[in-house]
Amino acid sequence: MHMNLLVTAGPTREPLDPVRYISNGSSGKMGYAVATAALAAGHNVLLITGPVALDPPEGATTVRVNTAMEMLDACVRNFADVDALVMTAAVCDYRPARFSASKLKKTDAGEVILRLVPNPDVLATLGDEKGNRVLIGFAVETDDAIANARGKLERKHCDALVLNAPASIGAEKAEFTLITADGKTKPLGRIEKTELAERLIRLVEELTQTE
Ligand code: CTP
Repeated sequence: MHMNLLVTAGPTREPLDPVRYISNGSSGKMGYAVATAALAAGHNVLLITGPVALDPPEGATTVRVNTAMEMLDACVRNFADVDALVMTAAVCDYRPARFSASKLKKTDAGEVILRLVPNPDVLATLGDEKGNRVLIGFAVETDDAIANARGKLERKHCDALVLNAPASIGAEKAEFTLITADGKTKPLGRIEKTELAERLIRLVEELTQTE
């Protein structure tokens, strides 16, 4: 069955002034690999991507965004038409409370305090409108990894969630664990992101048939 897949990738950037931003570590490799695997399997791909140094795979419809708010907006506008979402993006949880259109100047005052306000949770927002779509999330954890990841899967209404560690950021290969909504936890070992991507597309295909 041909599916419409929405794949998010890369980090978001939250600007402070015209030259500065806060962001998350993310190369976009995982999301781009998922998009490539989905296209190879014959699916339609909408790739919503934060700023990364990668060329989008040929055949994907690509929307470039910067901030979490832009990513939310692009995802919400397209969610009605998708059968599945694979949310690999490293969305910033916070953004500067104020954007200064003028470049902020260094002062002699010493310490500077940056005030941040929460961003929306894109996956949780879409999860609330899940319907019969398949949702796959990602989580980078350092402590109580399985319990934290399972909590996210449940809170964000995911069918599956891929757990990995900070060492995965920017890497070609990493240690992954697949957590599914049926309560199973499956260590996948140290594998290429391209291999994980192919496995996730097969999982999405299986889950779509059972939804
Ligand atoms: N996510 C999202 N919007 C956010 C934060 C996260 O859509 N504002 C998505 C990510 O794309 C990922 C999943 O939620 O698929 C888990 O992201 P993570 O940053 O691990 O979760 P958080 O809920 O932000 O939890 P933490 O407190 O660990 O940062």
